[in-house]
Amino acid sequence: YSLKAYNSFGFDVKARFFAAFQSHEMMQELLEQYQHLPYMPMHILGGGSNILLTRDVDGLVLRNELKGIELVKEDTDHYYVKAQAGENWHDFVCYCIEKNYAGIENLSLIPGSVGASPMQNIGAYGVEIKDVFHSLEAWHINEKHKETFTLNDCGFGYRESVFKEKYRNRFIITSVTYKLNKVPVYHTSYGAITQELEKMGVKDLNIAAIARAVINIRQSKLPDPQQLGNAGSFFKNPTISENHFKRLQEEFPGIVGYPTNTARIKLAAGWLIEQCGWKGYRKGDAGCHQQQALVLVNYGNATGADIFKLSNEIIESVLQKFGVRLEREVNII
Ligand code: EPU
Repeated sequence: YSLKAYNSFGFDVKARFFAAFQSHEMMQELLEQYQHLPYMPMHILGGGSNILLTRDVDGLVLRNELKGIELVKEDTDHYYVKAQAGENWHDFVCYCIEKNYAGIENLSLIPGSVGASPMQNIGAYGVEIKDVFHSLEAWHINEKHKETFTLNDCGFGYRESVFKEKYRNRFIITSVTYKLNKVPVYHTSYGAITQELEKMGVKDLNIAAIARAVINIRQSKLPDPQQLGNAGSFFKNPTISENHFKRLQEEFPGIVGYPTNTARIKLAAGWLIEQCGWKGYRKGDAGCHQQQALVLVNYGNATGADIFKLSNEIIESVLQKFGVRLEREVNII
């Protein structure tokens, strides 16, 4: 079964078995069937926008297509909105903006599904899922019961959660409840947003305007996966010690670093990669994006292995030049 339409890199790899579920009953039924088969690796797929498939999957790929959005609770300051995991993330953001539920406007246009949003604590332009997260429900595959995870259970960090590594393939996230604001708190400190809002001539700030600004910025430098296969940032922005940063600053005065809430400095991986000469690089159909060096792209017929190889070369050259080891952000399968 071809997974080409189900991964944003557009790799034409195959899964031995593929099934999609639109209800909890279907999900449980499929899991039953699968558990009767002898050893069979399984992968749960959301939007497929943060994975690198390096080869055919000799097992079962299950696609989560649970749909539905509902306002489950309301108090003085917040709306609690529950979305099923198979909802498209950006459609959900648009729905919230329409209803004036504030808090996720900065996360506009991130590819993928609602269920994948807590997986790696998606974040952009100063906001992360953990800032608006209330709880989620997940199905424990082997123990066959539903579990609820609150904020503290999820172990959220920068592009991290317990679901990414520790509980990998153990749970199926079925819904996520977000705690959204009645009175918006605007996050415009991320430089480019203020500039974009000015360019748009926005006088009275509102969440729809912020969403528009974010969309404009993203469209100006991030390739649309429909047109050019990619999985967003391929690497994480690494953190290094202050001493290491000072040493690098002496040698490379233009280096881009941001303070974090620990003693470490976060570097712009895109800058490091660009300095190593990779920006706009292309070999065969595997490349490093012209406008954003952090994004690796498939021009058509690259394979996951080609992109993986390119990512190794990039890691190696950044390590040689800066003594910094980049980590991949996408899930490698
Ligand atoms: N930069 C370069 N060259 C490049 C790219 C970036 O020099 O080719 C430098 C520039 O100085 C730029 C700075 O890096 O000002 C930051 O670049 P950008 O604003 O594009 O953000 P980023 O750090 O590269 C991160 C997230 C993105 C998110 C943006 C905006 C990670 C791994 N990536 O990228 O998330 O949209 O910030 O908040 O943290 C994703 O995770 O898939 C993703 C797209």
